[in-house]
Amino acid sequence: MITLEKVSFTYRSGQRALQDIDLNLEGGDFIAIMGENGAGKTTLAKHLNGLLKPSQGRVLVDGDDTRKVSVARLSRKVGLVFQNPDHLLFSETVKDEVAFGLKNFGFAPEVVHNQVIRTLEALGLSEYAETSPFLLSGGERKRVALAAILATEPDYLILDEPTIGQDYQQKERLRNFILQLYSQGKAVVMITHDVEFVAESNPKVILLSQGRIVAQGPADSVLSKDELVKKASLVRPQMSRLFGELTKYGLPSDVVDVHRARILLEEKLSEAKVRVAQNS
Ligand SMILES: Nc1ncnc2c1ncn2[C@@H]1O[C@H](COP(=O)(O)OP(=O)(O)OP(=O)(O)O)[C@@H](O)[C@H]1O
Ligand SMILES: [Mg+2]
Repeated sequence: MITLEKVSFTYRSGQRALQDIDLNLEGGDFIAIMGENGAGKTTLAKHLNGLLKPSQGRVLVDGDDTRKVSVARLSRKVGLVFQNPDHLLFSETVKDEVAFGLKNFGFAPEVVHNQVIRTLEALGLSEYAETSPFLLSGGERKRVALAAILATEPDYLILDEPTIGQDYQQKERLRNFILQLYSQGKAVVMITHDVEFVAESNPKVILLSQGRIVAQGPADSVLSKDELVKKASLVRPQMSRLFGELTKYGLPSDVVDVHRARILLEEKLSEAKVRVAQNS
């Protein structure tokens, strides 16, 4: 389990980035962290793997205080895929890039080889195994960075803006991947502005604003509240907005659960169809 206890963080410049954050993350969790630019999302992510240490409060990773354990040791458990991974890619081929972390952890060559093949396949990158990462498109490079971390099979996977630059098919692939990981008992944290992706995946949402947690709960519920969504500089998902509009036509206004709303909507539709049939 990763536990944040009353974590506050101020950069050397004096910029306050996190205030009083309490958070628990355990196997099987799928959490989306959302919030405006500068809300503190990336700063929070860097606390989860010990890259940044709290100015106040503490972060425990499986009971170890991140101040007392090396980042190298933490990185075996916590995999962080950066928002802009470009400057982190440095190998001559995609295959070497994905193998790098595994080799570093001291795995045997055949284990490294098998794991690299498997991960490239899973992320649709096999055809680029021998290509230089620098020749790939932005979206592909982002997937290479993800592959390099996934290959090491961390217990906690932290993804900073994973859907940016990914087309529909790749997003679906990513969604399935995440689903597979947390159903296998890993923990996945995704930082994102992508409300539609979140609405479809329905993780627990934590809304950050100006360094503080301002709301948390199921995506359905958090993302249907106008005030909260505005505060975090987001827009409500299309489905949620549609159901909002439909309350004007008889859909109960207390419906916040999109799945329940869908059922009600189908009922209304069949009623309407019956009426039309009766009138003709
Ligand atoms: N290295 C740094 N030195 C000083 N201030 C920083 C540093 N990195 C971030 N900040 C400041 O800390 C605050 C939080 O930044 P952070 O990068 O965590 O935001 P974010 O929520 O990830 O934003 P975005 O959506 O733009 O990625 C911002 O006010 C930012 O300007
Ligand atoms: Mg960020």
